[in-house]
Amino acid sequence: MELINRPRRLRGNDVLRKMVRELRVDKSSLIYPMFVREGSNIKEEIPSMPGQYRYSIDRMEEKLLELRNAGVPSVMLFGIPDRKDEAGSGAYAQDGIVQRALKKAKQVCPTMYLIGDVCMCEYTSHGHCGVLCGHEVDNDKTLELLAKTALSQVQAGADMVAPSDMMDGRVSFIRRVLDENGYSNVPIMSYAVKFASSFYGPFRDAAGSAPSFGNRKSYQMDYHNRRESWKEAMLDVQEGADIIMVKPALSYGDLIREIRDRTNVPVAAYSVSGEYSMVKAAAQAGFMDQTQVMCEMATGAYRAGASLYITYFAEELAKCMDEGMIG
Ligand code: PBG
Repeated sequence: MELINRPRRLRGNDVLRKMVRELRVDKSSLIYPMFVREGSNIKEEIPSMPGQYRYSIDRMEEKLLELRNAGVPSVMLFGIPDRKDEAGSGAYAQDGIVQRALKKAKQVCPTMYLIGDVCMCEYTSHGHCGVLCGHEVDNDKTLELLAKTALSQVQAGADMVAPSDMMDGRVSFIRRVLDENGYSNVPIMSYAVKFASSFYGPFRDAAGSAPSFGNRKSYQMDYHNRRESWKEAMLDVQEGADIIMVKPALSYGDLIREIRDRTNVPVAAYSVSGEYSMVKAAAQAGFMDQTQVMCEMATGAYRAGASLYITYFAEELAKCMDEGMIG
């Protein structure tokens, strides 16, 4: 058979396949989301996320050191308070759970880059991401509290803040408050393109943050909307976001690519709890190979254009990167 083009020639052996690989990724792009809770000497497994734990502050160190040794450079912290109230006051308390966790993390693992997730839903009694006015989340009142939360996290040691609430105008509001307090060098990673997604189910279990009524569709995006995702991303860039996040990652590769092409800031992809739990459950049932699926999903996000990848598999992925299975 006379064939000039035989694409299979470049797939003939492993050395060659790696040589012509179009995408290189490395561990410096990984961010691990970590749950911290009140109490002492606690490391409890999250039932909906096998292999993931809630740590009390005194037990964080072992995980942080493990991550650092694996080469994961950054963690994003989520707090689980003991008490919640209407105004989510635990989110911005100087001695709140995340604020204390940030202090401790800086102390026990100073080289770890710390990102604070800025939101109200883990701290409000109703589980919504802002303060309520009747049954509506009041956008403008919430901005004040988000900015207070961000500031308190930075004062406690956060190197970066990541607002995940989806209120309008929060990036500029937070930016102004950080600047006024002398933190003009602290970057904001905005969850700009965040969809109302059922993939967050296991996280809400983990953090006890499911809304007690209604849903989040009045602030998180409708996942049918592609052009609206450009609008959200553009607005946040104009407001001063340093990094734009697309979330979830798995069903949103098209948007990761488009945001990458339409903006000039780094794009982060958040492979959320449901993505993790699906892989875990399928692997445990023997239906798929966990490591290989995990690598394929991560590669998909990077190939789509993500420069940063937030994942519960961060440590395992770092090992796969070391072994050349990915990147
Ligand atoms: C807080 C927040 C959520 C997630 C990150 N920050 C939950 C939500 O919006 O309901 C989800 C993360 C995950 O599922 O892994 N607003």
